[in-house]
Amino acid sequence: MRKRHSATPYDIVVFGDTCVDLILRDDDIVPRFGQAEKIVAGYHLEMGGSCCIFAAQAAKLGLKVRLLGRVGDDAFGQLIVDTLATAGVDTQYIKVDSRLRTGITVHLAQADDRAMLTHLGSLNALTVADVSDDILASARHLHYGSLYLQTGLLPHWVDILQSAKRLGLSVSLDTNWDPQGRWNHGFLRALEHIDILLPNAQEALHLSGEPDFSAAIEFLQERAPLLVVKQAEAGASAWFQRKRISQSVIPAESGGDGIGAGDSFDAGFLAGWLNELSLETCLAIACQCGRAVASEMGGLRGQPWQSEIAAL
Ligand SMILES: Nc1ncnc2c1ncn2[C@@H]1O[C@H](COP(=O)(O)OP(=O)(O)OP(=O)(O)O)[C@@H](O)[C@H]1O
Ligand SMILES: [Mg+2]
Repeated sequence: MRKRHSATPYDIVVFGDTCVDLILRDDDIVPRFGQAEKIVAGYHLEMGGSCCIFAAQAAKLGLKVRLLGRVGDDAFGQLIVDTLATAGVDTQYIKVDSRLRTGITVHLAQADDRAMLTHLGSLNALTVADVSDDILASARHLHYGSLYLQTGLLPHWVDILQSAKRLGLSVSLDTNWDPQGRWNHGFLRALEHIDILLPNAQEALHLSGEPDFSAAIEFLQERAPLLVVKQAEAGASAWFQRKRISQSVIPAESGGDGIGAGDSFDAGFLAGWLNELSLETCLAIACQCGRAVASEMGGLRGQPWQSEIAAL
């Protein structure tokens, strides 16, 4: 069920996994210890965090987005607030917390692979005490992301989804990867409160606990009203009322790094869904956003604006 446009001041509320991405790039990026200095070909610094990248894309597509989060009292925190505000996201519920350092991931990227070093800092600082009914009720949809990284919210995340449903919001979930490999934390219970589940193909296997893709889809489509699975250069598929709809993609331009493609995909899908467009159109918009981001470095550069998406 979708609430109508004018029913609430915001379309989407999202909890921010606030961090920056510093992407260092070279053909051979492996560091040498023993205090050896190594020169790298290039770098790129920008806002990261799945939910933050999602929020920026959703706002660029014309949705009214409110992001709840914390940042440190530092230059990276300011970069995040400025980046979100420039995209059109409401930032009034981002608290500057001087006890925190803003989260950072240093990506060591070479042509065929990438290693990441993360300091969580502000990324997992939100707790259930930050989430009020008033904030939830200000939007018609809750997008919940970075489930396993937002550890401050994790003990109460199912209760938060339940509150959102009680207040009449529709709910989408993109768990993203579980770095600890547990893949649970009430996921099956949470499915009762979810309208759209948005995993990638690997995550679908882990979340379902099934050994192969078709068994995973069978398991998840039984339990999620709308299942949308992302498959990188193979595009994406949606399962609704036991019917499958697929969208293929032209391979991304070379030079991109794939960071944030799935998050912008989610925003594109919801821009269609919250505007009550057909599932085929929702998938087409989502894939256009995902491919555009996959064609550039970082999660923000490629993000299209509403005027670049014909269906919107
Ligand atoms: N190499 C690519 N070529 C074309 N389109 C792509 C490519 N990679 C991603 N996309 C588009 O972006 C969508 C989402 O990408 P992907 O499957 O990598 O999601 P994800 O694994 O959730 O990503 P993320 O790392 O952002 O969490 C795909 O369904 C596709 O539409
Ligand atoms: Mg993802």
